[in-house]
Amino acid sequence: MTQTNDLAQRRARRQAVLAGIGDGVAVLATSAEVVRNRDSHYPYRFDSHFHYLSGFAEPEAVLVLHGQSGRSILFCREKDPEREIWDGRRYGPDAAREAFGFDEAWPIAELDRRMPDLLADQSALHVILGDDPVWDRRVLGWLEAVRAQVRNGVSAPSALHDLRKRLDAMRLVKDASELDVMQKAADISALAHQRAMRATRPGMHEYEIEAELLYEFCRHGARSVAYNSIVAGGANACILHYVDNNARLNDGDLLLIDAGCELAGYASDITRTFPVNGRFDAAQRDVYACVLAAQAAALACVKPGASWPDPHDAAVRVLAQGMLDWGLVQGSLDGVIESGAYKRFYMHRTGHWLGMDVHDVGDYRSGGQWQNLVPGMVLTVEPGCYIQAADDVPPAFRNIGIRIEDDVVVTADGHHVLTAGTPKQIVDIEQLMTGQGG
Ligand code: GLY
Ligand code: MN
Ligand code: MN
Repeated sequence: MTQTNDLAQRRARRQAVLAGIGDGVAVLATSAEVVRNRDSHYPYRFDSHFHYLSGFAEPEAVLVLHGQSGRSILFCREKDPEREIWDGRRYGPDAAREAFGFDEAWPIAELDRRMPDLLADQSALHVILGDDPVWDRRVLGWLEAVRAQVRNGVSAPSALHDLRKRLDAMRLVKDASELDVMQKAADISALAHQRAMRATRPGMHEYEIEAELLYEFCRHGARSVAYNSIVAGGANACILHYVDNNARLNDGDLLLIDAGCELAGYASDITRTFPVNGRFDAAQRDVYACVLAAQAAALACVKPGASWPDPHDAAVRVLAQGMLDWGLVQGSLDGVIESGAYKRFYMHRTGHWLGMDVHDVGDYRSGGQWQNLVPGMVLTVEPGCYIQAADDVPPAFRNIGIRIEDDVVVTADGHHVLTAGTPKQIVDIEQLMTGQGG
């Protein structure tokens, strides 16, 4: 993806919003910096919607799209040589306008003074409210300021629209430049998972494997994780959001790793589960083969025209049959599915949208109808089986937690697995870890 393509893409996205809002005004702020402790901040991450439309990565920035005039206006921090010596370079309005293709750019300090004029006599305000009370108050302040001018013949926007809906729908279907970045992010994460498999030995700690993942992400330019890495040995794999990552890895246990890097604002999200000692035992092999078959059944449903729940329903059927076979649940297959008895061992959905956010925006259901898949949508396919130790669970199956997760783009004739570079067949995993085939 070249910088020029990127600029053109973002301009086209802004044009699409402008065309959609008629003579309304859309206003979108980026994220605030967040203090971690005392005067240290968390690594800065821009707001996804804001970056999708602007490409601008500095904090303290607001984008205004003025429908009537068709102008894209950026408010951002001013140049400040003294601060820049301490905190790093800033574009400043003039350079930002040039570099990112805005029609106008102003210092962020002028936002409150200029907004009432930009909103005067415009039909509607499109904005995101409810995330941040300080921002909400600020937006209402602009509206009050416009209304205060009513005796001068100025009218305030009479409609307030949630800008989320429009942007969520745009982001749900990825364009070629987004898919290009997502493939790169997936490739880096695939390398990291392979590195982790190669490094794992009994007696190591979960954090040592986490370090291998982070090293591989970072050395390919992916400086952040897309979400906190889960490196869960043995029984820890049955805790869905386990992030302590501090336990010892035992011979005979499985290791579940759910980790993905963020690259240029786009997430990847891969889970692999493999034996700490490189060889699956019989029960682990059974459960693993079943989860893999469930994933294959789910993947077969990922194609244009399929309905959102199809992959999940297909995965549940395979997993529930496995649970019956192992004596974890009793009854008929349809009965176990209908009663939800399988949820004791498979309690999450089989996937989610993936994009700039790991659990990306976009409706799953609207107007009472499940979303149909169309080319360009990206989703995860991630069935699992989590068997907590209990008296009614056969001993060989206790504390087995397995998930297999890939990132998938819907194509015109089916799907493409972005994360195919990470081994998941039993024979391939054992080969990679021990140098010997199944
Ligand atoms: N890593 C978060 C998820 O798989 O949904
Ligand atoms: Mn996921
Ligand atoms: Mn995941």
